[in-house]
Amino acid sequence: MLTDKIVVLGITGSIAAYKAAELASRLTQAGVRVDVVMTEAAQKFISPLTLRSLTHRLVASDMWEPLEEHRISHVSMAQAADVVVIAPATANIIAKIACGMADDLLSSMVLATKAPVIIAPAMNVNMYENPVTHANIEKLRERGFYIVEPCTGRLACDTVGRGRLAETAQIMGAIKIVLGKNGDMAGKKVVVTAGGTREPIDPVRFIGNRSSGKMGYALAESARDRGARVTLVTAAGLPEPTGIETLAVESAAEMLAAVQKAVKGADALVMAAAVADFRPKVMAKSKIKKATLSLNMELERTPDILADAEGNFIRVGFAAESENLLANAKKKLADKVLDLIVANDVTAAGSGFGTDTNKVTLISRDGSETDLPLMTKREVADKVWDWVVTNE
Ligand code: CTP
Repeated sequence: MLTDKIVVLGITGSIAAYKAAELASRLTQAGVRVDVVMTEAAQKFISPLTLRSLTHRLVASDMWEPLEEHRISHVSMAQAADVVVIAPATANIIAKIACGMADDLLSSMVLATKAPVIIAPAMNVNMYENPVTHANIEKLRERGFYIVEPCTGRLACDTVGRGRLAETAQIMGAIKIVLGKNGDMAGKKVVVTAGGTREPIDPVRFIGNRSSGKMGYALAESARDRGARVTLVTAAGLPEPTGIETLAVESAAEMLAAVQKAVKGADALVMAAAVADFRPKVMAKSKIKKATLSLNMELERTPDILADAEGNFIRVGFAAESENLLANAKKKLADKVLDLIVANDVTAAGSGFGTDTNKVTLISRDGSETDLPLMTKREVADKVWDWVVTNE
């Protein structure tokens, strides 16, 4: 979804300017046309040549020396942009934008653009916490600017506090959210589950499974990038994706409670989680010692979250199978009254637990089957949402 988009990347004079190089590189690799605008101060921290080499584009900085491709630099760049991202954004550029100043190329361009603007502040903690900066940021937020909050950590000035530029992944996430706002899932609310549940045996042990959570996270990010409001109920313990309401759970019982709450008013529930089918009937209160010469554990069935979820929404299940793939998947589609089941042969090469790719067949409620080739989990996720969007 980033391919062929035009991102104007504004870089200002913060020590974090070097991190903009990684962002520029990641965007370029994703197929984005990155037009970099650097302030004079930014060039003291990082060379325009670095950005030029990474983006394969000329880098703009001087108001009075328009680039060949942008004849009236700030206006044409402003018009061409799908999104403007300022990362890192100093207190100075934030103040200038908040006041509507236009005394250099970047500030003029921001004033002239109708594209959404993302601001990723980076500065010393006292500058960030200064009420003036705070008020300027709030003013921008109220006017519809998208702020990627800085994180807390060690700052270049040898202090620890808030003011460190957000991680590149977070800024990339913000760009995807902003670009996806008018996507084909805008206005939709979806719930996705991910990871393998852990059923406690005692305070240190559990019954678990091999699910990595990658498929569920890919589904959540794909829906987010198409404009949906996403709740991710996860037992995977992976980093929280930007712009996705993430509810961390451990056991099937916790996942059931979180899903039941989250699906209220939802348009779709996609259960990519590997939910344990059995759990110890009783959890030992203290650690079971090996002096206990033999151990018999009574197991009981967990609730079926997907089959029991109540509400009027599209239901998508996954069938991770090691044999009789299609027959087993079809039975689950019927038994759990699903709209779509993603049949996944976990024994096939490049498919199943922990991999970045998957080989699946989509089987829909009318019985039609779509056998997809081996593809990335993100591509599988896109196909699942394509089905949901066209078959609602
Ligand atoms: N599922 C669920 N709650 C459970 C078990 C499974 O919601 N307690 C969901 C899974 O998230 C998946 C679908 O049901 O989307 C099928 O899960 P799977 O483990 O393949 O099937 P089971 O119903 O558990 O049957 P079996 O283990 O016998 O294959």
